[in-house]
Amino acid sequence: MSELIEAATRVRENAHAPYSHFRVGAAVEDESGRVFTGCNVENATYGLTLCAERVAIFKGVSEGSKRFRRIAVVADTDRLTPPCGACRQILWEFCGDAELTMANLRGQTETLRLSALLPRAFDASFL
Ligand code: THU
Repeated sequence: MSELIEAATRVRENAHAPYSHFRVGAAVEDESGRVFTGCNVENATYGLTLCAERVAIFKGVSEGSKRFRRIAVVADTDRLTPPCGACRQILWEFCGDAELTMANLRGQTETLRLSALLPRAFDASFL
């Protein structure tokens, strides 16, 4: 997992966050070990902002990866930053009950499963 955290920490530097000044990096690893990274990308029309997690997932999907087994999210906060609600739903779609590690720049980490963040998730099994 440390490699994913490092990747998320590096890509966080690319965050476009001139409005919130809150920079986030994410990295996801697919089932064959390929890693995709993402940072948050804000917009003057605030609602168009994309979170780091979704950027990472969409980059992977657009490169042909459909399933991811690990996720890392890095922000510069004392309380470790969890994915927002919208990202939890997107992560569930492509990761299922995968391992997610939150980390900060001081090396603190916490790992949990997505089902702990999104209990009783809605997904394609209901359709
Ligand atoms: N943000 C993320 O990119 N991921 C998270 O897990 C939480 C929030 C971004 C969205 C926005 O650019 C900024 O952080 C403040 O909400």
